[in-house]
Amino acid sequence: MPYYRSVGEIPPKRHTQFRQPDGSLYAEELMGEEGLSFDSALLYHKNIPTALKSIEAIDAEEQETKPNHPLKPRHFKTHQLKAGGDAVRARALLMANEDCAISYFVGSESSGLYKNAIGDEMVYIEEGTGTLETTFGAIRFEPGDHLVIPASVIHRYELDESSDPVRALILHTRGHIGPPRRYLSRNGQLLEHAPYCERDIKAPNEPLTREGTDVEVLVKHRGGMTRFVYDSHPFDVVGWDGCMYPYKFSIHDFEPITGRIHQPPPVHQTFEAPGVVVCAFVPRLFDYHPDAIPAPYNHANVDSDEVIFYHEGNFMSRAGAGIEQGSISLHPGGHTHGPQPGSVERSIGRKGTEELAVMIDTFRPLDLGPGAVDSEDDAYAWTWLEGR
Ligand SMILES: [Fe+2]
Repeated sequence: MPYYRSVGEIPPKRHTQFRQPDGSLYAEELMGEEGLSFDSALLYHKNIPTALKSIEAIDAEEQETKPNHPLKPRHFKTHQLKAGGDAVRARALLMANEDCAISYFVGSESSGLYKNAIGDEMVYIEEGTGTLETTFGAIRFEPGDHLVIPASVIHRYELDESSDPVRALILHTRGHIGPPRRYLSRNGQLLEHAPYCERDIKAPNEPLTREGTDVEVLVKHRGGMTRFVYDSHPFDVVGWDGCMYPYKFSIHDFEPITGRIHQPPPVHQTFEAPGVVVCAFVPRLFDYHPDAIPAPYNHANVDSDEVIFYHEGNFMSRAGAGIEQGSISLHPGGHTHGPQPGSVERSIGRKGTEELAVMIDTFRPLDLGPGAVDSEDDAYAWTWLEGR
């Protein structure tokens, strides 16, 4: 996130002596992206962040994927997936390619400490509440939040006991997730035509420190999963500053861009990562040209696989397709798609929509994981046939 923040205590000058009450030095850590030539943060630890006591490979069950072959538009009902476990270890892999993986979690357990050393994660909360605890501080979350966690940030999920099970869609990218470049000034400020601004970005505003010895952290990395045991608790940061940190952005803070005629899909964009874009469909007024057709046109998005996660509301263009809360549609490249029969006529004269959905488009084809296979509605491909 190219937006400077400073939290807790930091010294007035970087890389200078900064001492604890007992006279010892705080341990300074620079976390930075793209070879330390992109966004970064400086953190000040009470203990050195490098003191490992043990390192152990973990046998994590590999979730195999298979190509979308024969090529089909698909519909997955995530609410058919089994609940249980925590948001780190119990993710059902839905789809993946070389650039990203999309998973779904439903469960009620809080997680242990974790870091993803491969890339960033965006966790979209469908249901449930809790706190994302990180080395940078804590972030409360609720339905509609996108939690964006940069690569290698140690974190865990503390779920509220009073909460319903947490349901979340998880996007893990190999590169870094950030606002669309076209919405940023040359120096990184969100511009006036962007559908959200810095005030909508919520990040930790105070340090979160914990005591502890022999603290386990699961590390997801290119070779699999490894368990690190640190000598002291990684949540020992008294202050940090910089432009790289975990944050949340609520879909309810997305200001839709509307027009007289149908607006192109990129107006709904929230984030991008290499090979991936993320969009938000939110309650909004429909097109107001007197002859406007609010339903989308049929389209061939020839370089993309389109994934839509339906969160809430009535999905006008999908009437009759069996779409429900928690449904995911996959419209792959090579497949022309559009509204279900009758939706175009029905949309005329409608003033607005209450739909809430998150779209993830990828530029490489998505393979299907076990979560997709287990929750597929096989009838979806035929729902564009008239008089079915
Ligand atoms: Fe589409």
